[in-house]
Amino acid sequence: MTHFIDINKTDPADLRAMLDQASAMKTARAGLPKGTPDADRPLENHMVALIFEKPSTRTRVSFDVGVRQMGGETMVLSGSDMQLGHGETIADTARVLSRYVDMIMIRTFEEDTLLEMAEHATVPVINGLTNRTHPCQIMADILTFEEHRGPITGKKVTWCGDGNNVFASFAHAAGQFGFDLTFSGPATLDPEAVFLNEARAKGSNIEIERDPFRAVANADLVVTDTWVSMHDSQTARERRHNQLRPYQVNAELMRHAKPDSLFMHCLPAHRDEEATSEVMDGPNSVIFDEAENRLHAQKAIMRWCLGR
Ligand code: CP
Ligand code: NVA
Repeated sequence: MTHFIDINKTDPADLRAMLDQASAMKTARAGLPKGTPDADRPLENHMVALIFEKPSTRTRVSFDVGVRQMGGETMVLSGSDMQLGHGETIADTARVLSRYVDMIMIRTFEEDTLLEMAEHATVPVINGLTNRTHPCQIMADILTFEEHRGPITGKKVTWCGDGNNVFASFAHAAGQFGFDLTFSGPATLDPEAVFLNEARAKGSNIEIERDPFRAVANADLVVTDTWVSMHDSQTARERRHNQLRPYQVNAELMRHAKPDSLFMHCLPAHRDEEATSEVMDGPNSVIFDEAENRLHAQKAIMRWCLGR
């Protein structure tokens, strides 16, 4: 069974093949109406369950459209509407869904929920975000970077802000694709050391730099994300804002990166908090390309899971 759980758990050659396929599929559809099926319809007669225990716009719509473009069908399930949200075990849910559908994408809270689903499902399971990681996003981000700037290997990426789930998948990608990654944020919101150490062990130069201006020096890509994630307690909101304000990505900070440094944000954004609208809508921003590339990257991930 081929699950897509995390970037660090997937062979680098497979990751590269997925990006190549995503790029080829994107090119092949250029200019077509969004609902036009792909010529080869690789998911014909396939049913995909999309489970959401948290809100979503991009993940929900891009998976749904992607499956349909590949000739398959989806059902979007809200965790709270399922028996899963009312006491049925994850293992039983996985076994039951595997009798009806050909693949499961799940967005959930605890990583253990995803892992248990994968352990007991007899169909591929895809990580659509957990409290700990967001691998589909970073596959789209690598695709986006390379479309604009060529191979990411050897480049420098600087993350400003919270050491969260999206950062963690960037750290996984740094190890697998061989780029350097600098984290800049308050020590209280540092990423888990395991993410940094694993990328270092694979040869990436991974740094923590508390001064955001020094952190972005020479960066080919500056990335940020919301200061309060879906799993964070709202009571921590004010404290987080106070701690993260010095790490806002604004025009002055971007002037300290390479002149052609790209800016990314996985969205949804709180404009003029973690990044200013001037940067988000500026010439170096590729935030909407990232959003579009969720579609293309995930189509390749789904094909890989199904061996197509
Ligand atoms: N970036 C991302 O995963 O967005 P959604 O929460 O809208 O799915
Ligand atoms: N870090 C954010 C990402 C949203 C796509 C969250 O988990 O809420």
